[in-house]
Amino acid sequence: MKFTSISEAMKKGKGEVAVRGWIHRERGSNKLKFLIIRDSTNIIQCVLEKEKFETQWDEIDKLQIEASVEIEGEIKEDKRAQTGFEISAKKINIIGLSDKFPINKDLNEELLGDRRHLWLRSRKMQAILKIRDTVLQALREHWRSKGFYEYHSPTLLGMQAEGGSTVFKVDYFGKPLYLAQTWQLHAEAGIFSLEKIFTIQPSFRAEKSKTSRHLTEYWHAEMESAWENFEYLQDDAEEAIKDIIKKVLEKNKEELKILERDAKRLEPALKKKFPRITYDEALKILKEKKNVKIPWGKDLRTIEEDKLSELYDTPVIVTRYPKKVKAFYMKEDPENPEVVLGFDMIAPEGYGEIIGASQREESIEKLKENLKEQGEDPEKYEFYFDTRRYGSVPHGGYGLGVERVISWLCHLDTIKDAIAFPRTMTRYSP
Ligand code: 4AD
Ligand code: MG
Repeated sequence: MKFTSISEAMKKGKGEVAVRGWIHRERGSNKLKFLIIRDSTNIIQCVLEKEKFETQWDEIDKLQIEASVEIEGEIKEDKRAQTGFEISAKKINIIGLSDKFPINKDLNEELLGDRRHLWLRSRKMQAILKIRDTVLQALREHWRSKGFYEYHSPTLLGMQAEGGSTVFKVDYFGKPLYLAQTWQLHAEAGIFSLEKIFTIQPSFRAEKSKTSRHLTEYWHAEMESAWENFEYLQDDAEEAIKDIIKKVLEKNKEELKILERDAKRLEPALKKKFPRITYDEALKILKEKKNVKIPWGKDLRTIEEDKLSELYDTPVIVTRYPKKVKAFYMKEDPENPEVVLGFDMIAPEGYGEIIGASQREESIEKLKENLKEQGEDPEKYEFYFDTRRYGSVPHGGYGLGVERVISWLCHLDTIKDAIAFPRTMTRYSP
């Protein structure tokens, strides 16, 4: 008989089916064995009666969770079963036995981290990984539909872009190189060829902070566009988030349910326009509504972003930060040289900055000044200045932290669960 997925078998709803997967739960008596089988699509209860399996009963009786099996039988609706259907088994093939599975409810976060390769099989991780797939697909579709090309930049770099304190150094045949914190500098070169480009690739940050929102290796979805202005970047970032939410609400209702995520909390971000406020306005709002006083010129810290996010049920876009707290490539606001044409998008429910963006500075002199201010040697950036020497155009882009967005959509306690094998300061295996 031809195998179908569990969800296809349930769609069929009656008659003969053949499914295969792993034992998610098992219980039995001396006459009956109940096996809940899991595949990538769903779980289903299968009942095996001893009298139909006399010769195999010893083996069946000893089956432990996570053993892999093929089962053929008659499916029918059963309101008592967890997913509403049951298979009365006629045939079972035991494919791979399982030792006692070393995962149970009592494991703490550390032990679950050590056994991550096995924990991936949990319904929770399965649901998150499916939502992650939707997020990546939605991003690609979003940019492709607007004529963007997928383009890639190197990971091994001779210079930093987001501040020297969070770069990983690599010994490159005796020379020091860095792991990319962003694709950006090489993306800016790419727009002179393709004009509108995006990537989804890992970025690396030597973050010493042990927070629930920092990874040392994260997936970075970035776009860069020639000719466009600062408003376009904000519009596109907002549309990208809306496209992601739309797709997740369409495709992942079941997964959100498994995660006990209230999908209604995501609807405002789909329906409402995201507020856009300046950094100055953010300080004023924080002072008036949250009694948080920040001296002008200081960056917003995690706790201040969280306070601000409490005031909105959608992401909020904060623009025009002080120049001295932002990256060297951000364009000075022509109307106020103290601030830059950059923005952060801050997620609701305390998930922090999900997007960082800017219009790019075109003046080589200003770029050099900014680099020197940060203690960098402008000579390392000569290739980058060439992008300003040969037909410079207004341009800009943004970077979206894929795991930050997933954490928010799934309402996760830690960003580590937004990726299969997280990397943080203290977690680098398996
Ligand atoms: O704000 P960031 O540093 O911006 C850039 O790297 C720009 N070059 C992007 C661009 O314009 N092309 O990083 C962008 C986003 C942040 O908003 C955040 O969502 C995510 O990347 N991010 C992290 N995610 C997980 N762990 C970390 N340590 C992260 N650092 C940044
Ligand atoms: Mg940022």
